Amino acid sequence: MIRINENYSKLAASYLFADIARRVGEYAAANPGKPVIRLGIGDVTEPLPPACVEALHGASDEMSRRATFRGYGPEQGYPFLREAVAQGDYAARGCRIEPDEVFISDGSKCDCGNIQEIFATDIRLAIPDPVYPVYVDTNVMAGRTGAAAGGRYEGILYLESTPANGYVPAVPGEPADLVYLCFPNNPTGAVATRGQLEAWVDYARRNRAVILYDSAYEAYIRDPAVPHSIYEIDGAREVAIEFRSFSKTAGFTGLRCAYAVVPKTLNAWDRAGKPQALHPLWNRRHTTKFNGVSYPVQRAAAATYTADGRSQTRALTDFYLGNARLIREAMARLGLKCVGGDNAPYIWVNVGRDSWEFFDLLLTRAQVVCTPGAGFGRCGEGHVRISAFNSRENVEAALGRIGAALGRA
Ligand code: MLT
Repeated sequence: MIRINENYSKLAASYLFADIARRVGEYAAANPGKPVIRLGIGDVTEPLPPACVEALHGASDEMSRRATFRGYGPEQGYPFLREAVAQGDYAARGCRIEPDEVFISDGSKCDCGNIQEIFATDIRLAIPDPVYPVYVDTNVMAGRTGAAAGGRYEGILYLESTPANGYVPAVPGEPADLVYLCFPNNPTGAVATRGQLEAWVDYARRNRAVILYDSAYEAYIRDPAVPHSIYEIDGAREVAIEFRSFSKTAGFTGLRCAYAVVPKTLNAWDRAGKPQALHPLWNRRHTTKFNGVSYPVQRAAAATYTADGRSQTRALTDFYLGNARLIREAMARLGLKCVGGDNAPYIWVNVGRDSWEFFDLLLTRAQVVCTPGAGFGRCGEGHVRISAFNSRENVEAALGRIGAALGRA
């Protein structure tokens, strides 16, 4: 008799953003005369940078000719893109990352979800709260947690991000083996200082832990003092894996391209206490389960590292940060405290009431979609996340509607 993976029954019924999409879809269907503006899921709206479009056209033309046609590429990514990443994102910032330590993939969601496969199931997890739900859910699916109680799973050490700590959790007083960190943070938009990251690297070294550092929103950092990569911290090559994405940097949510960095100097331990390099494990997993990102998409990603690509992606992220500034200002006028939005495309608003109730209020009175903080964890209660990913026209319209709906325009 075939049996299910019963770990799935511990999960909330549906994935957060699928749940929100369903609720919004039902509202829109019942209210066809009331167009909805979506500032919920962080999905980009602006067209691709021209340098990427040109690269896509060029690569498609190559695929149309026998002499330049390409079939399967290297699972880990084409050397031209791995080299551009190592040079453009790391060497340029003084970090030593080799091209063959970069694994090109079709998204950071997949990388963050898949990476846990190379670790034992009976390890101690440390995961922030609030958090991008993928980190928690994929570990629940893999059987690393007990049941959920009061919105939390047994077996996870929750790293609380609250107004009291500026939404950046300090290192815990107890050990963990696998630590998830995300800066600039999704959902709060908070950033970690160099000192805070040094404390985490030191913690990982002391506890022989691995840090999974999700840096998908790195392109939004504007404060020159804020580190862009965990590898800017001494010793991080021995304890950290980093994830980056072209989704929010260059508008690739529909194209799909990202990468994970697994340094060859990074070890975990086997049952006998012997150190084992993680690079060959991830290489084995990646080559077995993934056949590479399409050639035209990798060419488009590589175009972001050209002079034109750089200035165009900067303009794109500047545009969304302009939206973020308008959102922050509007929230301040409404007397609502918020963080994020200055080095991140998300604004984390302290609404001081039930977050799903506030979500419903914005949807039904203003026809604006936000993301209820409780969906990201217990510490998200009392907050909502507003995404800056939309056109200027829609953001301005949404803010006008929110002001009117809350009666304090
Ligand atoms: C979000 O809204 O948190 C992100 O768009 C989700 C993702 O990148 O998968």
